[in-house]
Amino acid sequence: MNINFSTRLIDWYADHKRHLPWRETSDPYRIWISEIILQQTRVAQGYDYFLRFIHRFPDVRSLAEASDEEVMKLWQGLGYYSRARHLHQAAGSMQGVFPSTYAEVRALKGVGDYTAAAICSFAYNMPCPVVDGNVYRVLARYFGIDTPIDTTNGKKLFAALADEMLDRQRPAVYNQAIMDFGALQCTPQSPDCLQCPLVDGCVAAREGRTAQLPVKQHKVKTSCRYLNYIYVRARANEKEYTFLKKRTANDIWQNLYEFPLIESDAPLSEEAFKRLPQLSLLFAADELSTLHVLCRDVKHVLTHRIIYANLYEVTLSESSAALTDYIKVDVNELGEYAVPRLIQTFIETCIG
Ligand code: ADE
Ligand code: SF4
Repeated sequence: MNINFSTRLIDWYADHKRHLPWRETSDPYRIWISEIILQQTRVAQGYDYFLRFIHRFPDVRSLAEASDEEVMKLWQGLGYYSRARHLHQAAGSMQGVFPSTYAEVRALKGVGDYTAAAICSFAYNMPCPVVDGNVYRVLARYFGIDTPIDTTNGKKLFAALADEMLDRQRPAVYNQAIMDFGALQCTPQSPDCLQCPLVDGCVAAREGRTAQLPVKQHKVKTSCRYLNYIYVRARANEKEYTFLKKRTANDIWQNLYEFPLIESDAPLSEEAFKRLPQLSLLFAADELSTLHVLCRDVKHVLTHRIIYANLYEVTLSESSAALTDYIKVDVNELGEYAVPRLIQTFIETCIG
């Protein structure tokens, strides 16, 4: 531990901290929920989700007793849906009480080293150093370390350094401070070195290397996917229906619902799409003659993936035998299904 380093961080934090609802509590349940939300979601986006989630599920028991569908529905739009499934499973494993040792917290579904350290330090003031992207960046720059952070060696080195720097008298506030410092002061693109309380000891600032640090070995490349969805119009007994399918494969959007889908490995013009043989497996010829486009080339960006999506419409005859493998849904009840944000956008903007 380095008194100078931690005191300056904590003093900076006292002046600059963001006041966030999960920081006004030491309830491990709430801190857990916030940390799972914030694993892959920015604070600005996660904020309202956190409040809604805690309002509906204020404690372990209420979450454990909820249905899978309700938990997924509340998570809708946040992405990385396995987080919601794991939360629900973990709550079910707790017998009503949030665990109180590091080992038990670390063993919860969906909780890794970072999240266990965050929960145990914030809620219980245990001396566990958090190591997230912010901490990697602050430490790599302050000490001028160019060992790649995404290698076994790098992870070990930074974990040991984080442990060494941790303020053991004040682990909760120190951890919050270094994370907020990385998020607000020592930012990825434009660290504010001129106004920085750590500048006199900072190697990267002294050597003009802030833009080069931290180093990553594996730059992940982004791939494209092309999704062609079909909004189906069907009528029966004076009601209007459409069709959905639940995604199950080990893929994006697991367990969410979507319209009938034909994925292609390249972008398809409307004409090329209409000639696809898969279409005649789904629909009869007279139904296919109603096929037309509703929305084209909607770009949807996920981590490491860019999705280009089209939405088509087909109208079924009353006696249609199409789509027996799909779920037939009253259009007025569409809102009860948890869908990816892309599908929600289609529902709100393309379907009249
Ligand atoms: N990101 C992850 N955990 C956080 C927290 N407790 N406060 C703000 N941002 C965070
Ligand atoms: Fe980050 Fe610049 Fe401060 Fe160094 S001086 S810790 S690079 S903001």
